[in-house]
Amino acid sequence: MIFSEQRRRAYLQAMGIDVWLPRDSIPGDATVPGEDTAPLDWDQLRHCVSGCTRCELSQSRTQTVFGVGNPDADWMIIGEAPGAEEDRRGEPFVGRAGQLLDLMLHAIGQRRESVFIANILKCRPPNNRDPKPAEAAACRQYLDRQIELIQPKIILAVGKIAAQNLLESDATIGRMREQQHEQPHGAAYELKGIPLVVTYHPAYLLRSPSQKSKSWRDLCLAARLAEEYSA
Ligand code: URA
Repeated sequence: MIFSEQRRRAYLQAMGIDVWLPRDSIPGDATVPGEDTAPLDWDQLRHCVSGCTRCELSQSRTQTVFGVGNPDADWMIIGEAPGAEEDRRGEPFVGRAGQLLDLMLHAIGQRRESVFIANILKCRPPNNRDPKPAEAAACRQYLDRQIELIQPKIILAVGKIAAQNLLESDATIGRMREQQHEQPHGAAYELKGIPLVVTYHPAYLLRSPSQKSKSWRDLCLAARLAEEYSA
């Protein structure tokens, strides 16, 4: 993807970067017995998610957070789970981390409305604790169906939790960055082949701004792979 030098610099500066440079056996699937997300269209899926009681998070959430953006997006951004503000507003990445994510998207010529942003979990874990494996497994079918319907050209996993869940790996984020992965989980959904890039979570970048330049490199890799995928 070609960015004008001026725009690149403006956004990098805004981001605070120096410019010198077989899911069908989900445990605990008790909610809607027998309901399989595979045949659902977008609206049906949204409806299904909004009433989900597959895990205990349904008891503590204010509302589900389905995701936001363009259901025809080339880019799909996947984070960890809604936080307090996201739980209140029903939209992912609306806090400070979300503002930085918006800047990161601008830097690659995208907007919140042009990509699709989702999380591993559709419900907020209490006190923002890490998702439990059973919760991620219960929610996975929803995310996989979203990916299948969107058919993005690139998936950007932001943060360790998103990357480890998507790639079914316990590798560190340092080992998962700077390379092209493919969605390994989706044989049943024919998701294979969609390139996936891992980068730091914007909340981490807020705490460690010196890592932003690495994240920029990840974004550039993702942009290149998205182009190659569509070529
Ligand atoms: N962090 C995430 O990973 N997702 C959100 O939606 C908000 C914060």
